[in-house]
Amino acid sequence: MSEFVTLHYEGKELKLPVLIGSEGERAIDISHLRQETGFITLDPGFANTGSCTSSITFMNGEKGILRYRGIPVEELAEHSSFTETAYLLINGRLPLQKELNRFSVLLNDASLVHEDMQLFYQNYPRGAHPMGLLSSMVTALRSFYPELQTIEEEINVTVTRLLSKIRTLAAMSYKISRGHKVVYPRADLSYCANFLNMMFDSPVKPYQIEENLVDALNVFWILHADHEQNCSTSAVRIVGSARVNLYAAIAAGIAALWGPLHGGANQAVIEMLSQIQQSGEPLSKLVERAKDKSDPFRLMGFGHRVYKTFDPRALIMKKTCYDVLEKLKIVDPLLDMAIELEELALKDDYFIEHNLYPNVDFYSGIVLRAMGIPTNMFTVMFAIGRLPGWIAQWKEDADNPNWRIARPRQVYTGPVRTAYAPIRER
Ligand code: ACO
Repeated sequence: MSEFVTLHYEGKELKLPVLIGSEGERAIDISHLRQETGFITLDPGFANTGSCTSSITFMNGEKGILRYRGIPVEELAEHSSFTETAYLLINGRLPLQKELNRFSVLLNDASLVHEDMQLFYQNYPRGAHPMGLLSSMVTALRSFYPELQTIEEEINVTVTRLLSKIRTLAAMSYKISRGHKVVYPRADLSYCANFLNMMFDSPVKPYQIEENLVDALNVFWILHADHEQNCSTSAVRIVGSARVNLYAAIAAGIAALWGPLHGGANQAVIEMLSQIQQSGEPLSKLVERAKDKSDPFRLMGFGHRVYKTFDPRALIMKKTCYDVLEKLKIVDPLLDMAIELEELALKDDYFIEHNLYPNVDFYSGIVLRAMGIPTNMFTVMFAIGRLPGWIAQWKEDADNPNWRIARPRQVYTGPVRTAYAPIRER
């Protein structure tokens, strides 16, 4: 394999180094292109552009592979817990038992949030979307808990704080939105059980922790824990590249994740299925609308920028969905609709030709419904799961001695030099 590719331009040539990743992925290094040639590259949506080198997550869209630090997501979903997976992503390796114990103690110690933060929630408009709230609250954490960035141990304190408090903040927002008393975290509960308890325990109806749901939540969050340079992670890296504090960078990731083309799709899937259920229209209408180019509608929970054969997370999520509903004897008509819709789409020529398969969001909403999570909090659930990945990616940049501020260029297509016209003469 040649270590260079040669670019021919304007009668000249330039040798560009080829970089080969540990899984054999090839990239042309153009970091000196403009300096040497005056050219830039244009790649809307960055479909062909590597923004960094990274040792965190590997995915192969053609083969449906997803691995965190080399470990297949299937194995993590089966054997690991969310906190262990978070440790793996952030620290680069699986923890020893004593390290995992210590991590759990730290998460527990950091789980309370400043009481004054409750006032923010009280004064937020009641109908505010929980993602907007979460993004604001994470930014606000910076003022309550200034980050410490100088030595490794201090970074770990900030990171643990954020991982622990995001779960408390999310549950708190739900309780306050319902006008209910906030439930505090408990030291005797695991990360996932604690979250469910803070969401659903009540003085009049103590919450019975259901281990099947705790397991399902571990799987849900493990599947969402990282996904290399997706939209929200790139937002975290780009905002972080200005050397802004970690909280602000994560808040930017939350804002990006909110969009229906990204994390917001899990909410959109359930809304789409519920609407069609209420209207009584056939599911085939959704498929027809998705194919109609004059209609902006897309089949939510279908398609992916990288996965072109299947999304490995969707397979695990579908199985988890069946397991949870069966074990808890829950009948959800939306599951039958989802299965039927998947079958219709997968045999449709348009979906076959466009390589459109269910993504992780297609079945995840049904699992979240089984837990009792309200639809407008689905994307918050995604955000809690993605946090370890965002932190790991932010940290990778922060530890990189060659780190530069992210500053893409553009091809300008506006008017050429135009003289200013005084207002009377316009
Ligand atoms: N329904 C119908 N058509 C679709 C869909 C869909 N869900 N997704 C893509 N297409 C079509 C597009 O119309 C386009 O068709 P054309 O080439 O004939 O014009 C073609 O497939 C390629 O689509 P792009 O938008 O160029 O693909 P891109 O990689 O930019 O987008 C995305 C990927 C955003 C996920 C897209 O598939 C989509 O909008 N899906 C629905 C929303 C969704 O489920 N998002 C969650 C993604 S996973 C995640 O973030 C966790």
